[in-house]
Amino acid sequence: MGCLEGRVAYVTGGAGGIGGAVIELFRAEGAKVAAGDLGLTDGRRAAAHLWLRHDVTREADWQAAMSAVEANFGGIDILVNNAGVALAKDLEETTLEDWRRIMAVNLDGTFLGVRYGIAAMKAKRGAIVNLASIAGKVSAPQLAAYAASKAGVVGLTKSAARHCTGKGYQIRINAVLPSFADTAMVDGMVEVLGGGTKDLETLRERLNRRHPMARLARPEEVAQAVLYLASDQASYTTGSELLVDGGYSA
Ligand SMILES: NC(=O)c1ccc[n+]([C@@H]2O[C@H](COP(=O)([O-])OP(=O)(O)OC[C@H]3O[C@@H](n4cnc5c(N)ncnc54)[C@H](O)[C@@H]3O)[C@@H](O)[C@H]2O)c1
Repeated sequence: MGCLEGRVAYVTGGAGGIGGAVIELFRAEGAKVAAGDLGLTDGRRAAAHLWLRHDVTREADWQAAMSAVEANFGGIDILVNNAGVALAKDLEETTLEDWRRIMAVNLDGTFLGVRYGIAAMKAKRGAIVNLASIAGKVSAPQLAAYAASKAGVVGLTKSAARHCTGKGYQIRINAVLPSFADTAMVDGMVEVLGGGTKDLETLRERLNRRHPMARLARPEEVAQAVLYLASDQASYTTGSELLVDGGYSA
C-alpha cells in the first residue's frame, strides 16, 4: 500500500518537469491527483486523474480549482505549489515588468495557493509543499527577480506554518529547495548561467561542475523530497526548508 493511499493531492504547474514527476510519484503512492497548468499541452508527461486550466496568479482560478477538486474528490489533503517561472537577468537588466511577472507567478501564486489550501484543509488536516529554490539562499547575479521571489516563498512558508500551528490547524507547510533540476526551466536559463558559450552540452557540463555531485538533479529526485514532506513520514516537520541540491550550497 502506498504512503498516500486515500489522499487527494493538487499540483500546480503539473505540465512541467518537476510537476510531472510529482504527479507520477503521488499516483504510484496511491493518491488521487488533480493538476493545473496554464495550457494543457500534449507535452505534459504525467496522467493526473483531473486536469484543470489554472493560472496561479488569478484568484478566480484558485476558487474554481478548489471547487473542482472538492466536487470530484470530496476535498483535498495535499497541495503542491509548484508552478513557477524563471528569469536569467541581472538587476540592471531587469525591468519592473519583468520583476512583476516573476513575482506574480512565483510569489503571488504561492501566496494564493497557501491561502486557498489552508481554507480547504483547516477543518481536517493536510500538508502544503512549496517549491522554492536554493536561489533564495545562495544567489547569482543573473537571478535578481527569481532569487527574490524564491526567498519570499521560504519566508511565506515559515510564516504560514507558524500561523497553522498557532491556530491549532493540523496543516504542515514546508518548502523544497532544489538547485538545478533537469527540466525545460533550466534549458531556458543555461545559456546565461553557463557563461558565454552557445553550445547546450558545454553549458550543461559547466552547470554540472558547479555541483559537488557533478550533475543536475533528476525531476524524480526532487519529487521524492516533495513526497516526504507531503506524507505522514514528515509528521513532525513544519516550516522547514529541504535542500535538494547535490551539495551545491554546502
Ligand atoms: N528546474 C530547476 O532547476 C528548479 C530549481 C529550483 C526550483 N525550481 C522550481 O520548481 C518548480 C517547477 O519547475 P520546473 O523545473 O518543473 O519548470 P518547468 O518550466 O518544467 O515547469 C513549470 C510549469 O509551471 C507552469 N506555469 C508557469 N506559469 C504558470 C501560471 N501562472 N499558472 C500555472 N502554471 C504556470 C508552466 O506552464 C510549466 O508547466 C518551479 O517553481 C521552479 O521555480 C526548479
